[in-house]
Amino acid sequence: MADIIITRTVSDLRHAVRKFRDEGDRIGLVPTMGALHDGHIALVREARKRAARVIATIFVNPAQFSPAEDLAKYPRTEEADLARLSAARADILFAPTVGEMYPQGFATTISVGGPAAAGLEDRFRPTHFAGVATVVAKLFMQSGADVAMFGEKDYQQLMVVAQMARDLDLPVEIAAVATQREEDGLAMSSRNRFLSPEHRALAPLLHRTLRKAADDIAGGAGIEAALAEGRAAIEQAGFALDYLEARHAASLAPIADPAAGPVRLLVAAKIGQTRLIDNIAAT
Ligand code: PAJ
Repeated sequence: MADIIITRTVSDLRHAVRKFRDEGDRIGLVPTMGALHDGHIALVREARKRAARVIATIFVNPAQFSPAEDLAKYPRTEEADLARLSAARADILFAPTVGEMYPQGFATTISVGGPAAAGLEDRFRPTHFAGVATVVAKLFMQSGADVAMFGEKDYQQLMVVAQMARDLDLPVEIAAVATQREEDGLAMSSRNRFLSPEHRALAPLLHRTLRKAADDIAGGAGIEAALAEGRAAIEQAGFALDYLEARHAASLAPIADPAAGPVRLLVAAKIGQTRLIDNIAAT
């Protein structure tokens, strides 16, 4: 196993980063909640291309889970994660405790507007992006990274983090990484492990439906007509659909005319107990 420095406190992280800084190295950051799969590793690879040193973080952030969501059930696989990060040649793992990130008396929340209030994930998880923004801002400040990787898989999250970094003049570049998929098109996710074999076989329908709607829009079909057909296909397959929407790819504002694009199609749906999200560029 390659040498990876494991840090669990902000002070140890800063100490390790300082050494790399003293050598003049550019620092890349890959924030995660662990249960790592090839999607996460693609972020580490991209970070390696953009920076001499790579910090991966694993922190299952209580602030971004609602009471209805099962924080305790979130998969925790640190040993396997560590092996994967070492193989991908990350330099530092930062895996703090909840007490280290949110000590007694912690009282600050970062509230992002714009894309965080686009009426997509925020409609179903109203406190989620405040929790994400707060923890990501802390990770930026703790690591002092020059560049941070975020997956397009969580497209609204990517837009929210970019908005926050812009608005607060955070000295970090936000780099987007394309969604990594299984061979049948299903977006890789730590939640896929909860799918029964039957639901796993159905799950790629979400990506197929996004593709078809994107093709229809590119072929001149109206956005609303393409979405209506897509929604029906998803519901007929047995999903409980939260949304299938077309948005401007940069602002996440509603968009009716493809010419006003670029357009992004975003979907969230539950199959059994598992909620899946996905998105693609439509134009
Ligand atoms: P997590 O779900 O672990 O994802 C960590 C990063 O990996 C995110 O930027 C996410 O978009 C990216 N990612 C996940 N699956 C991917 C895939 N199939 N292809 C490409 N990238 C993928 O997102 C979070 O954690 C948290 O909200 C976090 C940002 C760490 C803040 O707590």
